[in-house]
Amino acid sequence: MKPVFILLVSTAWTLIGAQYYYQGLMDYLENRLLAIEDRMQLWHEQFHQHHTEMLDFKKLTAEAMNGLRSEHSMIFKDLDGASVRVDRVEREMDYVETHTAPRACVNRVDKVVEQEAWGLMERQEEEEEDNWEELHSRVSDCAEIISSIRSVKILKRVGSSKGMWTRDPRSSKVYVFNGTSGDSFYQFDSVRDFSRSVGVLDSRNIELPSEWNGLGSAVYNGYLYYIKKGADTDVQVVKYDLLAGSVTETAMFPVENYASLYGLNPETVADLAADDEGLWLLYTPSDSEPNISLAKMDAATLDIEQIWDTRCPRENAEAAFVVCGTLYVVYNTRLASRSRIQCVFDVNDAVLGEEAPLLYFPRRYGAHASLKYNPEERQLYGWDDGYQIIYRLTMKRKLLV
Ligand SMILES: *[C@@H]1O[C@H](CO)[C@@H](O)[C@H](O)[C@H]1NC(C)=O
Ligand SMILES: *[C@@H]1O[C@H](CO)[C@@H](O)[C@H](O)[C@H]1NC(C)=O
Repeated sequence: MKPVFILLVSTAWTLIGAQYYYQGLMDYLENRLLAIEDRMQLWHEQFHQHHTEMLDFKKLTAEAMNGLRSEHSMIFKDLDGASVRVDRVEREMDYVETHTAPRACVNRVDKVVEQEAWGLMERQEEEEEDNWEELHSRVSDCAEIISSIRSVKILKRVGSSKGMWTRDPRSSKVYVFNGTSGDSFYQFDSVRDFSRSVGVLDSRNIELPSEWNGLGSAVYNGYLYYIKKGADTDVQVVKYDLLAGSVTETAMFPVENYASLYGLNPETVADLAADDEGLWLLYTPSDSEPNISLAKMDAATLDIEQIWDTRCPRENAEAAFVVCGTLYVVYNTRLASRSRIQCVFDVNDAVLGEEAPLLYFPRRYGAHASLKYNPEERQLYGWDDGYQIIYRLTMKRKLLV
């Protein structure tokens, strides 16, 4: 009996223990579940919060996108308007340019005033073609025309807005004429000296016995040729020996009045130009003559050898120069626009209409007061609103020669 009792008691204890045990387990699990539920609740809340935040964000970005889109379309509209306006301005400029700047006109040799000089030509013209060739080569040995303005170099800015500078092809010395008249000028040993010097510090100031007038001076083989206003309305060409420092020759040039040679540079009443052929004088006999006259001068004696009426108008002309017996007149407008070679006159009548260049100078804001050609370097020395500029030229052969 005793063992059975013991078994019963122990079983009861075991049962009680098991019940306690299960109760504890249940409690534990319940607690866990509650904790999980809490956490799930928390997650849910967080999720909800994120979701609403997300929605808010989405709304915000949508609004921002809309704003950007409308701004974008507004900018596009503005751009469209601007480009339409630019197009219109460009078209207008093209129109103005085609109406005011047709291709360069070539002027045929027209009329010769100096009958004596012409006599030789007429006589030869009546004879054979060979003789014409002979005269032709006497007048002009070189056979090139300008095909383009290859490059531009702005060297320096010195002096007033108008002036002239040039380089003697023989000595390579540089001469600077400040302003539109004066009784002295500056001499530099080289272009490099000129560009390096502060202002005109390293130069020699040369005083002339008489005043130079306008921007028509030229330096050629050690001599300065300049324009002097004489008594009455005469124009004088003075030849000055730069080495000896004395006047060696003068010549009168009868003109009716001091008419401006170039419409846009009225201070210049006559212009001297040196090229491969020698010395040329550009002038106008009277104010009523609308076109530029060209004369070939003997550089030694200042005799006039021959005269041509070029049919290149003086109006709106800025400057001119001679290359290889061909005159190039540069035009602009009163409100400085782009300078261009727009009239070409060949004394040998050897430039065909099609090959005449209508050349535009690189765009600048000023206007040329002078342009001097240097036959040795084939470049132009320009004075543009006080800036000293060098233009290099590219040449091509004349078709007819
Ligand atoms: C150039 O001339 C102007 C007046 O015409 C004068 O004020 C200026 O000092 C001159 N410059 C030089 C370098 O001679
Ligand atoms: C001046 O040149 C134009 C051509 O550019 C010509 O039509 C006109 O007859 C010339 N005038 C004179 C006076 O030679």
